[in-house]
Amino acid sequence: MKDFVYSYPTKVYFGEKAAAKALPAELAKTGKKVMLAYGGGSVKRSGVYDEICGYLKEAGKEIVDFPGIMPNPTYKKVQEGAALAREQGVDFILAVGGGSVIDCCKIIAAQAVTDQDIWEMEFKNHVFPTSYLPMGAVVTASGTGAEMNNGAVITNEETEEKTGVLGAYAAFAVLDPAYTMSLPEKQVISGAFDTLSHCMETYFGSPRDINLSDEIGEAVMRWTIRNIRLVKQDLQDKNARSELMWASAMGENGILKIGKVTDFQAHQIEHQLGAFTNCNHGQGLAVIHPVLYRHLYKENVGQFARFAREVWGIPAEGKTEEEQAEAGIRALADFIREIGMPTSFTEMGLTDKSVLKKVADTCNITAGCCKKLSRDEILQILEECW
Ligand code: NZQ
Ligand code: ZN
Repeated sequence: MKDFVYSYPTKVYFGEKAAAKALPAELAKTGKKVMLAYGGGSVKRSGVYDEICGYLKEAGKEIVDFPGIMPNPTYKKVQEGAALAREQGVDFILAVGGGSVIDCCKIIAAQAVTDQDIWEMEFKNHVFPTSYLPMGAVVTASGTGAEMNNGAVITNEETEEKTGVLGAYAAFAVLDPAYTMSLPEKQVISGAFDTLSHCMETYFGSPRDINLSDEIGEAVMRWTIRNIRLVKQDLQDKNARSELMWASAMGENGILKIGKVTDFQAHQIEHQLGAFTNCNHGQGLAVIHPVLYRHLYKENVGQFARFAREVWGIPAEGKTEEEQAEAGIRALADFIREIGMPTSFTEMGLTDKSVLKKVADTCNITAGCCKKLSRDEILQILEECW
């Protein structure tokens, strides 16, 4: 177990009518002008927008509307939001949406209170923001766990990078499964697979000796797999959707990462793929994971074998650790097929193979991965994903 400090700044309101409990209580602590940030319109169609506006008005707030945050939010959109927040003298940001809206708001919150360019500050000067406009998050699409961390994944179209930028933590998060019920199946499944990916990427980090966080991680993985299967049978299974919503938060609230250096190599590859293709995050991960793990498992056979036994229920009898590890990766690949996720980039609809080299040349190589991959090997992995 590595040394750690754990404290969590985000207060979670989970369950039915969570917004009715959270917003009056939390907004009483904020100033008058609230920037209401959301995506391309799903919140208006589902009625969530009107409901939230009602709570804001009851609390006597003045609403500054900020619509149009796109999936895979851009740095340009961050700047637009920060300019609006300054112009209007916004006191508080309320993000209502999925990971994209929440992430965009984390960086708006930082950019709105400084004249320095956040991208330059973090990536050129390696200085991180310390003051923010306060924000809250109302989750309408679960999976990323974005509501429970201060990392925002932003696409900078100028530099052709999609990467993690550090921003604000939400002071509170509203997790009402009812707000997610209008999601289409593709997004429910890709979001839930993202949760599974976060757990795997944490589990296969270092050190390699198992700790309590890993054991909790195995439970979150089993639970995520089980509930993905349930929503596959019945998309409107509210209990399964609520279990996935909490599993998503658990994947990113730091508990599974305690005492570990995380891996997140699949994410780094997928993020750059997103930078060049704007692809769906969970789908990209589903294609990359099994291929990446076939390249990695021999470096960490013990843990891959344990993953096979504990997460996929593969019996150890009659198998070497290497055979168990291989069976676990096969079980993961079979599951991806079973839940209807793509198994290759072509199935995802990608057509321009030349992006693969650009991704391999530009993605981050992580410290926690059990094997330090070369750019050539990353290219090989990407080609096997085609
Ligand atoms: O834009 P609208 O109209 O709202 O539609 C969205 C969007 O098209 C729709 N949607 C959201 N809630 C809905 C709904 N449709 C119907 N009913 C609802 N209740 O879903 C679509 C996708 O939304 P998005 O927010 O992009 O999805 P997700 O939550 O999967 O977020 C993906 C983004 O998060 C980043 C990803 O890279 C990607 O940019 N990630 C953020 C992480 C973090 N901060 O911790 C970790 C992840 O690894 C991930 O990288
Ligand atoms: Zn993810």
